[in-house]
Amino acid sequence: MNTSYDSRPIGIFDSGVGGLTVLQELLSRFPQEGFVYLGDTARVPYGTKSPATVQRYTIQVAELLLQQNVKGLVAACNTASALGLTALRAYTTVPVLGVIEPGCQAAIRALQGKTGRIGVIGTHATIASKAYAQTLSVLLPECPVQSLACPLFVPVVEEGWTSQPSTQLLIRESLQPFIDTPVDVLILGCTHYPILKPKISSILNPGTVLVDSAQAVALSLQQLIDTQNIRPAAQREGVRFYVTDAAVRFREVAARFLPQLPIESVEVVDL
Ligand code: DGL
Repeated sequence: MNTSYDSRPIGIFDSGVGGLTVLQELLSRFPQEGFVYLGDTARVPYGTKSPATVQRYTIQVAELLLQQNVKGLVAACNTASALGLTALRAYTTVPVLGVIEPGCQAAIRALQGKTGRIGVIGTHATIASKAYAQTLSVLLPECPVQSLACPLFVPVVEEGWTSQPSTQLLIRESLQPFIDTPVDVLILGCTHYPILKPKISSILNPGTVLVDSAQAVALSLQQLIDTQNIRPAAQREGVRFYVTDAAVRFREVAARFLPQLPIESVEVVDL
């Protein structure tokens, strides 16, 4: 056996279907890797839950993936990353990637060394946790950060209402603070928001850079592979999907959400 390779899968989890935006990005960058995706569809949304509950759910979903012998864990869910990552890193020795730090680093890169304002949008729980604002204040002290919860974007995306005029109005009204006080970079701090990227972009100042955590996480995974913290798979390993409830709806929403990502079968598991 070549010890520089590891055929074990990478575990990736989310409160539901949204993490598929991250999975798709990882699959396109690392086509040889195997992934096990777990969507906690029985308990979605996490974005309205208390920190203690999100932390408990995070450990439970990660535990199931660890039982699948994963070589790394990706918390695709921003809410779980904001509230559960510290506990999860204390719980396991397997490398754990969240979306907060990669997203902040990508936002700072987007400023290209200039001073500027950074905006963050996410669920109620993510914004209340201040995880993005605190991480940015460590990485780039003095940078003004404006955070805003946009909870209504999640159901809009799940229902496939991405091109309706009413969605355009909803986005405009929700993002009014960023229209009144523009930012240079806006972090899309929720799994579902990349689906609305063109709409969000069309409403904000033309120069505003939108940071998508999926792309930022892919870069961080590359760094883990480069530093041998995670060893790559030698050959194409495939993807397995698990949910905690409503597999049929998961597949329907996923097909609407990311038609280009084939999901052949989904197994329901109990946590
Ligand atoms: N996946 C969640 C996130 O990225 C959004 C949906 C939820 O509230 O669970 O924060």
